[in-house]
Amino acid sequence: MKHTGQVFSLLLAFVMIFALAACGSGSKTNEEDPKAENKIDTASALPEEKASDSEIDTGKAAESAKGKALVVYFSRTGEQYVVGVIDKGNTAIVAEMIAEKIGADLWEVLPAEDYPMTYNELTDVAKKEQNENARPEYKGTAPDLSEYDTVFIGAPVWWGDWPMIMYTFFEQNRDSLADKTLIPFSTHEGSGLSGFDRKLGSAVPGATVKEGLAIRGSDTQDSQESVGENVADWLQDLGF
Ligand SMILES: Cc1cc2nc3c(=O)[nH]c(=O)nc-3n(C[C@H](O)[C@H](O)[C@H](O)COP(=O)(O)O)c2cc1C
Repeated sequence: MKHTGQVFSLLLAFVMIFALAACGSGSKTNEEDPKAENKIDTASALPEEKASDSEIDTGKAAESAKGKALVVYFSRTGEQYVVGVIDKGNTAIVAEMIAEKIGADLWEVLPAEDYPMTYNELTDVAKKEQNENARPEYKGTAPDLSEYDTVFIGAPVWWGDWPMIMYTFFEQNRDSLADKTLIPFSTHEGSGLSGFDRKLGSAVPGATVKEGLAIRGSDTQDSQESVGENVADWLQDLGF
């Protein structure tokens, strides 16, 4: 019996050793378990979250590195092509969206002598100004541009070009604009940006001219949500 007891104790010892060994190898198997790997993935997502946090920080730094921004625009109310009589100009709507989205200041180029309120008369006056390469005066003086690093500049396309009054603005402020980042935008009814960026670069040598945005005028009145999305995407691409 004593012998049987010894054999039993020995067997029990073996069983315990195997059980312990099984526990040990079991925890190792868990590490190789896909579920355990998921845990590792989740854990490794933490550094990624941190990484994206620091990307957001970099974004903020980039935004502040862009400094203060101003939105300068020219726009007409009254009778307008496609949209009829409007009480807020198409370009004004886009200008306000930009300013609102990035917290920029706004300044409207207002003509010293008002333009006609009917579309046909307006197109005649605009064509005459273009033919004469006129420099119509604007009211008041531009804001102190030395305060700004980036100036968004927007206008309707008039006869395939910037309205002549915008060339008055470019020329009268050429020196102050020359060290800035200038970002053009247009509203139009089919002509797109009409070379606003290239023409702006020629009018203000030395300035950095970034990718412009063209928005169909009628969309600013009828599809403001999608225009807002376009504006937001464009601003994001520009790093704002
Ligand atoms: C004088 C004049 C000329 C225009 N010339 C063009 C043109 O060449 N190409 C175009 O696509 N749209 C042209 N349009 C349409 C305007 O660009 C469009 O309606 C614009 O959104 C008006 O903007 P606003 O409301 O800010 O003034 C012209 C409009 C006017 C009044």
